[in-house]
Amino acid sequence: MASSTRVLRIDVVTPFPGMFSALDESIPGRAQITGRLVLAMHNPRDETTDPHRTIDDAPYGGGGGMVLKAEPIFRVVERITQEHGRGEIILLSPQGEVLTQSRVEELARLDHWVLICGHYKGVDERVREHLVDREVSLGDYVLSGGELAAMVLIDAATRLLPGVVGNPATVASDSYSAGLLDHPHYTRPEVLRGWSVPPVLLSGDHRAIALWRRQQSLLRTLQRRRDLLNLVSLSEEERRFLDRHDRSSCDDESDGGARTMEVECGHTSDREPDADARSCNGGGVQPG
Ligand SMILES: C[S@@+](CC[C@H](N)C(=O)[O-])C[C@H]1O[C@@H](n2cnc3c(N)ncnc32)[C@H](O)[C@@H]1O
Repeated sequence: MASSTRVLRIDVVTPFPGMFSALDESIPGRAQITGRLVLAMHNPRDETTDPHRTIDDAPYGGGGGMVLKAEPIFRVVERITQEHGRGEIILLSPQGEVLTQSRVEELARLDHWVLICGHYKGVDERVREHLVDREVSLGDYVLSGGELAAMVLIDAATRLLPGVVGNPATVASDSYSAGLLDHPHYTRPEVLRGWSVPPVLLSGDHRAIALWRRQQSLLRTLQRRRDLLNLVSLSEEERRFLDRHDRSSCDDESDGGARTMEVECGHTSDREPDADARSCNGGGVQPG
């Protein structure tokens, strides 16, 4: 399908479909209204055959907590596959691959996902072994259910769909999209409680503004996530710029961190020395 008319269909298997009403707001809401995102909820309770509509049971081997039964989940997913074809079947799990922007981009290129939300102690292992294509984790912590993780994944992918965010350049310049952290942003008023907007942003000089933003992105990444700098391709000039600032922050540290760092293009920050000290390992910035 042509990318400009692409639709992402997401079937969510959850005993708590009401939680997903949050996605009727903001960008995912707009994506649904404009037909770029089709979200469908499937409650495994609807696939049960007993009067209590049981979806969980005690774990074999004993111990605390309940386990989500496999059969209702298999049935829901098989029905979805019959009606809409086979999507990528994703289990939300703290044991899965940790979500990153590049994984979101990869998933956003697909046309159809089925998200399975776990609960309690988790899902019967046979779901993972015989049904699921991949497991996705939000990070190294445990949520009470897969719904919030599924919503994060849906939101992050939706804003990448063609036509969903008005100006695609804004998405492309966000943190992680091009491998760096985003530069700082300012809006009116020009002076707030005595704090001024960096003068270059008011200069009307588009080249100088673009250079300032790029340098701020580089510096932020150096200060907060220098591990990312090894993964991006930078020009020789940019490497030299980073080395210069890396060295100057180490000098600041040996001065007791008292000096502020003069960022090129005339912006001075009194917050930088702490962050510089964190980045200072004497190893220089490795070529990407
Ligand atoms: C309480 S957790 C179960 C944790 C499981 N016993 C473990 O330790 O691996 C219940 C459900 O929440 C979801 N969940 C919890 N933490 C998550 C995370 N970090 N990322 C994605 N999903 C998560 C999963 O669907 C999981 O099956």
